[in-house]
Amino acid sequence: MQDKTHLVDEITGHRRMRRNRKADWTRRLVQESRLTVDDLIWPVFIVPGSNILDPIPAMPGVNRMSIDRLVEAAKEAADLGIPAIATFPNIEMDLRDETGSNALEANNLINQATIAVKKAVPNIGMITDVALDPFTSHGHDGILRGDEIVNDETVEQVVKAAILQADAGSDIISPSEMMDGRIGAIRRGLDAAGHQNVGIMAYATKFASGYYGPYREAISTAGLLKGDKNSYYISPANGMEAIRDAAFDVEEGADMLMVKPGLPYLDICWRLKENFGLPTFAYQVSGEYTQIKAAAMNGWIDGERVMMETLLCFKRAGCDGVLTYFALEAARKLAKG
Ligand code: PBG
Repeated sequence: MQDKTHLVDEITGHRRMRRNRKADWTRRLVQESRLTVDDLIWPVFIVPGSNILDPIPAMPGVNRMSIDRLVEAAKEAADLGIPAIATFPNIEMDLRDETGSNALEANNLINQATIAVKKAVPNIGMITDVALDPFTSHGHDGILRGDEIVNDETVEQVVKAAILQADAGSDIISPSEMMDGRIGAIRRGLDAAGHQNVGIMAYATKFASGYYGPYREAISTAGLLKGDKNSYYISPANGMEAIRDAAFDVEEGADMLMVKPGLPYLDICWRLKENFGLPTFAYQVSGEYTQIKAAAMNGWIDGERVMMETLLCFKRAGCDGVLTYFALEAARKLAKG
């Protein structure tokens, strides 16, 4: 009778996966994916006023910042080596209306923030969103006519907003409102306005997700939103549709693609990268951040470890980088080595 150990040796003796895992040096040598500070984009929330750091209850550790505080934060981010920030404004309620007209004010909160950051921290990239949800009284990303979010009229407005954002110094326009045809329209609009060097990061595949809850609290759209966004975001059930949607964005001139939310959609990240080969980013959205923070605050998981693991997993799934509320925390940790 052979003993068990012997049997295992005979069958599997030549396949020892653990050889490469045996020591720290072998593990480092064979490591396939790596997270560096160059992979991080930091989404930030802006509020009017000065010297304001307003904590967002559903996002422990994240603050809404007035522009002066944002400039300080952007300096810190740049010093840590973070390549870019993405700004999201919390617009005063009395400036919000049916069509989101404040998006067409050259001097609105988001454009003021871009101007201030670009002046004080010229070496950090500014990524700005042109969706109308921070500006509308109903919380939708587009113009609401009756009970329809009208596509082409929204696109027209979004193009104008994009040009104003580029005028203010935005480096990359990232349209998140998922209207059809917007990427081509924004490209043509930017070019006609002399902004050939301003890029477009398409929210190529944005899913109708429950993970956006804390974000809607952060920019105060949660209480406003009438109905849902299912008529313009992609169903979480549809992978092929997401690829088709992204293909149009590529055709229309997107420079970069984004998948949102992140972790539940790693398959989409992989498929976009495989299909198009464009720089591809995941947005680890507010609900993903909150889940990790909440579990960590309860002592149920090691928050820092899970933060670094999730960020690395985006790289393994083919992403070139991640928009994450953890950007500063992760950058500090990476700096420590
Ligand atoms: C809408 C928008 C959303 C997010 C950013 N811009 C989704 C939404 O409110 O429907 C979500 C970001 C996050 O959850 O971190 N244009």
